[in-house]
This record gives sequence, structure tokens and C-alpha cells, in this order.
Amino acid sequence: MNVLDISDAGHAYLGRTILEGIDLSVAQGEIVALVGPSGCGKSTLAHIAAGLTEPRSGRITRHYARHAMIFQDPALMPWATSASNIDYALRLAGEKRRDRQARLAAVADHVALTSEDLTKYPVELSGGMHQRVAIARALSIQPDFIYFDEPFTALDVALRRRMQDLVIKTCADGNLSGLFITHDLNEAARLAHRVAILDTRGSGILGDRTPPGTPRTRTDAQVFDWVQGVVQDDPIFRHIHDVDERQIA
Ligand SMILES: Nc1ncnc2c1ncn2[C@@H]1O[C@H](COP(=O)(O)OP(=O)(O)OP(=O)(O)O)[C@@H](O)[C@H]1O
Ligand SMILES: [Mg+2]
Repeated sequence: MNVLDISDAGHAYLGRTILEGIDLSVAQGEIVALVGPSGCGKSTLAHIAAGLTEPRSGRITRHYARHAMIFQDPALMPWATSASNIDYALRLAGEKRRDRQARLAAVADHVALTSEDLTKYPVELSGGMHQRVAIARALSIQPDFIYFDEPFTALDVALRRRMQDLVIKTCADGNLSGLFITHDLNEAARLAHRVAILDTRGSGILGDRTPPGTPRTRTDAQVFDWVQGVVQDDPIFRHIHDVDERQIA
């Protein structure tokens, strides 16, 4: 069963068409990576899918119970400790005080935040810790669907890998579904069951491709070979170098 169905979605900002004829679905327990160059409308599509932005046209059907979103900028409240940042989401979700404490402890443990980390303010946290708090905050409300909007772009390679492992494990353990936006084809190939490619001008999904195995079982060699293969031979990835150029810039 699909937990998310985007059907013929389109959007425009200030009269300029950003997205057109977008069809994309995510099945139960599936992580779909969405790749495409900067400005092609990935964030807009995620916002439309999550109901934050009303599409100009098309239909969105959601069969999940509750979603969370993790942004590129962790967007923590600077005046609140890590614990308060997570607790705020729980309060917004209407959780009772007693349950909140237990939930906070459980998610902090899950993302390896120590009790000392929880007392720190965002300015005292490293980039990785920021993202751990953001992930803990998202998980705290027990979503069954997560939108990831390039959450690890600012992290260095080793840290990024650790955070990817955390996402892979969390999603597999909890049978979560999700849409993971990224510029990085290697990241997409590591994390996702399926990789969808958005047209440079947002004119539809060019196609989707399935790396071998599952995110949990896929080896580094399989990821490497798959990425090399599609970049060289698969025409729908031909604009992927636009992506690389942006990363270098
Ligand atoms: N609130 C807004 N008002 C007007 N134009 C917008 C707004 N948000 C986005 N845009 C424009 O819509 C287009 C798509 O933006 P979007 O942020 O969805 O792209 P993206 O693929 O997520 O880019 P990036 O990879 O850089 O994050 C861009 O041209 C952007 O300038
Ligand atoms: Mg974006």
C-alpha cells in the first residue's frame, strides 16, 4: 500500500511555474530519495507533500498517521536546551508531561545524546549534535513518515555517514516510510529503496531507479558500482553533474 501519493501536482510562485505534472508515490516501509539540481523544486515538492504548501494543481493522498520533517538547517530554538527543543515538539503534539519525559529519554538514547548533551544550548552543540537533536525531535512524536530535506549537506563526510547509518537503522527498525531529498547520489544510493529523479525545471519526475538490495544490507561496493553505472550509462542521470557542480561551489 502507498502511504503517500502525489498525483499530477504543480506549483507556481509569483506566476512562475516551479513544478508541473509531478507523480510520485511512497509505499509503506519505503524510503524514496528525490534527487535533482538546485532550484528544481525539491523542497517545494516536499512542502506540498507534507501539506505545508497548497499546490496549484494536482492531488496529494496521505495514508500515514503522522509525519515529521527534518530540515537542512536543524532550526533549533537557540534560547532552549536540547531537551527543551525536543520537549517543545512533544508538547505541540499534545503529549502528557509524564509521557514526555520517558519519550525524551528514549529518543535521546536512540540517537546517542547524553544527559549532558541534553542540557546544552544549540550554540554549544557541534553540527552533528545539532542534527541528532533535530532527528530526536522528529522521532519523539513517533511519526510513521519522515520528510528529510537535505539534512546532512552541511556535515563532513565521516559524520554524514554516521547520520546516514542512524537514519537507515531507525527507519528499518521502526518500519518507517519517508521521502529523502538530497543532492548526493551516493547518499541516495545508500539510504533509499528507490531513487526518483526530478527534472531540472521541475517538469515531472524523469524516472526512478532501484539500487540493489535494501538500505540495510547494501554494501559500499554495491553503492559505488550502482552510482558509477547510472552516471555513466543512464540518460535520466545526465543532468546529475549540475548537482555535483553545486556541491563544489
Ligand atoms: N516562497 C517562495 N517564493 C517565491 N519563489 C520561491 C519560494 N520558494 C522557492 N521559490 C523558488 O522556487 C524554485 C524552487 O525552489 P525550491 O526551494 O523548491 O528548490 P530546491 O530544488 O529545493 O533547491 P535547493 O536544492 O537549492 O534546496 C526556486 O527557483 C526558488 O527560487
Ligand atoms: Mg531545497
